[in-house]
Amino acid sequence: MNDPRIIVALDFSSKEQASILAGELDPILCRVKIGKELFTAAGPEVVKIFIKKGFEVFLDLKFHDIPNTVANACRVATDLGVWMINVHALGGKRMLMAARDALPLGGVKLVAVTLLTSMGPDDLENIGLNNEPRNVVQNLANLAHSCGLDGVVCSALEAGQLRKEMGADFCLVTPGIRPVDALVDDQNRIATPKMAIQNGADYLVIGRPISRAENPLLMLKYLNKEIEEQLAVN
Ligand code: C5P
Repeated sequence: MNDPRIIVALDFSSKEQASILAGELDPILCRVKIGKELFTAAGPEVVKIFIKKGFEVFLDLKFHDIPNTVANACRVATDLGVWMINVHALGGKRMLMAARDALPLGGVKLVAVTLLTSMGPDDLENIGLNNEPRNVVQNLANLAHSCGLDGVVCSALEAGQLRKEMGADFCLVTPGIRPVDALVDDQNRIATPKMAIQNGADYLVIGRPISRAENPLLMLKYLNKEIEEQLAVN
């Protein structure tokens, strides 16, 4: 089965811009992620457009609300035919369980965001979480696992620890990926594709390093090669 490891973030404010990038990519080589910006600008229709183009879609809306609202939002999102959706683990146990119960097992992948990869220790302190990022991430991953979620979104820096603790079947999705020499942008806890795979990540969310590349397809192929080489060693 074709299981591309890279999920390209279509972080654009119009479906036209997103279509230009997707038009340069290949559904055999990657999946795509539709997040808050594109979804808010272009609506559910945009999800259907990319599914029609052959891409499996990760709908990254990071639901975080009362259990009933999140459960219903997850149900409606799944009806769009997406491959993966997510909620915030910080929404707590009842919210996570409501999301899980709303969806058929073995269907859409349901993962929980642990800590945003843009957040470092200072950001945690600012919101009153006086703990190391890796401890917070581990606690939230345990919670997501106990609620029956398929996996978590985490930094590749924490993937190694999570892979060990959570076992082989727990899906680890890692944003904050930067090839060697790439700009860090607003990310904080970053890693190279090689490092992410070495640490046991299943899927790598990559936005600007691909969307800003002079030749996005070439960059995608280059990063896929780095991933394949590391998978062969793992
Ligand atoms: O451009 P860049 O590679 O930094 O894009 C990363 C993408 O991953 C963005 O769409 C961002 O919303 C998303 N993301 C993240 N950290 C998370 C969850 C999602 O950066 N914890």
